[in-house]
Amino acid sequence: MTILENISLKNYNTFGIDVNAKRFITINSVDDLQQLLSEEKDLFLISGGSNMLLTKDIEKLVTHINIKGISIENEDDNFIEVTANAGENWHEFVLWSVENNYGGLENLSLIPGNIGTCPIQNIGAYGVEVKDTITKVIALEIETSELHTFSNQECNFDYRNSIFKNEVKDQFIIISVSFKLSKKNHTFHTSYGAIETELASKNIKNPTLKEISDAVIAIRKSKLPDPKKLGNSGSFFKNPVISVALFEKLIVEFPTIPSYKISETELKIPAGWLIEQAGFKGKRFGNCGVHEKQALVLVNYGNASGEEIVELAQKIQETILNTFGISLEIEVNVVT
Ligand code: EPU
Repeated sequence: MTILENISLKNYNTFGIDVNAKRFITINSVDDLQQLLSEEKDLFLISGGSNMLLTKDIEKLVTHINIKGISIENEDDNFIEVTANAGENWHEFVLWSVENNYGGLENLSLIPGNIGTCPIQNIGAYGVEVKDTITKVIALEIETSELHTFSNQECNFDYRNSIFKNEVKDQFIIISVSFKLSKKNHTFHTSYGAIETELASKNIKNPTLKEISDAVIAIRKSKLPDPKKLGNSGSFFKNPVISVALFEKLIVEFPTIPSYKISETELKIPAGWLIEQAGFKGKRFGNCGVHEKQALVLVNYGNASGEEIVELAQKIQETILNTFGISLEIEVNVVT
């Protein structure tokens, strides 16, 4: 294990923010991680770097979790339980599952990031969340260096949320995630509008896993910027949940406001719509801006600092609060 000094993190975060790590180490195994923790515990973890906004140089030891490997845990005629280690790339794992005809992850194609971070924010897209397939998460406790298994239930999954963002935040390092996938009689989730339209445009009536994955890839490519070309962290804000009372007021002034009912008293509003209505979509502010095809995505045109992006986010939050009376919560992990 070698500690490198003064390493740029530009290629380690999908926003492409150029800050430095004073010290940087790559971890390839659980043994290495346990050895490191016996010497130093106050680490700054980085994996796929796809859900973070860095705003300054990192003083702590930046620890790049690069533990690889995919293994089969259990299998019968109908299901397979597969474990993937934290450093595996998410999308490559999804493609592997689709190629093997294992169902459950196809709607989550092309999401940036690695396996180790997928449970933290319970990644989701097109009507599916990763919590629907996760059976367990194995994580190393930083204080004791012991491995702990979290069952699906223990992970307390919620919309873009889990125990790893709350009760045990910063206490564990995720080592592997296990998934239960179908081998036949797959449950397809194609009712999400854009998927239906995409499949219909190709005249596909009974899609395969691969055809659904391809449809999702096509939709994402048409709306979401490729982080390799334009730095970004996916949706910057969560979709806000508002009361029916507020919604009834808003619909009078904004008759086209979209909404999804989540209970008798609450509705979810697409933040992208609010931001677009407020006039931000496609606007550039210095080195950063709001993506032209999906207003929920903030982008780095090349040389933005994290602070510039935070300022833009605050401007958007203020405008949305003043215009609609809705507080937008940042979904990305802002490192200050
Ligand atoms: N909309 C607009 N203008 C925009 C963007 C969206 O009016 O610029 C409205 C439209 O009415 C559209 C609706 O918002 O019908 C929903 O848009 P979209 O289907 O693009 O989804 P989203 O709610 O904006 C969420 C996730 C995405 C995920 C998509 C698809 C969150 C915070 N974001 O976005 O996740 O890919 O649904 O399921 O829940 C991510 O978390 O990084 C991410 C990309």
